[in-house]
Amino acid sequence: MKVTVIGAGNVGATAAQKLAYDSLCKEVVLVDVVEGVPQGKALDMYQAMPVIGSDTRITGTNTYDATENSDIVIMTAGLPRKPGMTRDDLLHKNAEIVKSCIDQAYAKSPNAFYIIVSNPLDVMTYVALKTTGLPRHRVLGMAGVLDTARYRTFLAMELNVSVEDIQAFVLGGHGDTMVPLPRYTTVAGVPLPDLLPQERIDEIVKRTANGGLEIVNFLKTGSAFYAPSASAVEMAECIIRDKRRILPCAVALEGEFGLSDVVCGVPIVVGKNGMERIFEIKLTADEQDALNKSAGDVKSNMDKLTVFN
Ligand code: LAC
Repeated sequence: MKVTVIGAGNVGATAAQKLAYDSLCKEVVLVDVVEGVPQGKALDMYQAMPVIGSDTRITGTNTYDATENSDIVIMTAGLPRKPGMTRDDLLHKNAEIVKSCIDQAYAKSPNAFYIIVSNPLDVMTYVALKTTGLPRHRVLGMAGVLDTARYRTFLAMELNVSVEDIQAFVLGGHGDTMVPLPRYTTVAGVPLPDLLPQERIDEIVKRTANGGLEIVNFLKTGSAFYAPSASAVEMAECIIRDKRRILPCAVALEGEFGLSDVVCGVPIVVGKNGMERIFEIKLTADEQDALNKSAGDVKSNMDKLTVFN
């Protein structure tokens, strides 16, 4: 297995490191336009391998030649958010970056699975789909795993229990209108509404939707990267190990959940074929309304794209 990570910034480098530390693949290629940075970070990581006890080879490069025949490409390049910026402020600039990088990566790895992390996430996943023309099971956006991880963490903090025992879904676009589903949230099998009052659940849901912003406001010069990179690597691991885990991912919808012509986060089964299937669950009218609104926000940004004109 060979994985290319595009972007040697915080998300990309941390993703490359996790892939290598966890021995998830034989080879990681880290690509970035900045001369020396991917090479330096890759060499430094490679030199950690004797200590870690992993045989993953990591190389850094400024071109796509060495990425040839990758099995998975993780796209992280793009401008990060700064305080006061929404993910949507990044739309036009990052659409150009994603189109250009994915074009070059696809020329070398037409059979790869593409995991998109660049923001605004759902729209960038659409840009990657359109740039490659690949079928939708090969192009997955990472956001639901991250948003769900944040939600699970906040619930574990609140209940003072292991994060592992919180099972949950966050659906919708990766934005302020994302849709955490308390009704489908359980703590070791116990429904969340039995454990916490509604007002407290509402506060945690709100904190989850603002989870990225909370970190941006702390860091000031960039956005979150540990949880985003771990989430992208979890998706890659499910493909590499054919785990068939059910993960919320951004995918192109063709009528599922009553939505089409839009990329939006829904639960899917992730295995060796990328998206094995969409895991349709029943939503209440309120939940469906929230999902429609979130998908509508993504759609309006997709409509603003000028990169394919
Ligand atoms: C976040 C940014 C990366 O949610 O979208 O942290």
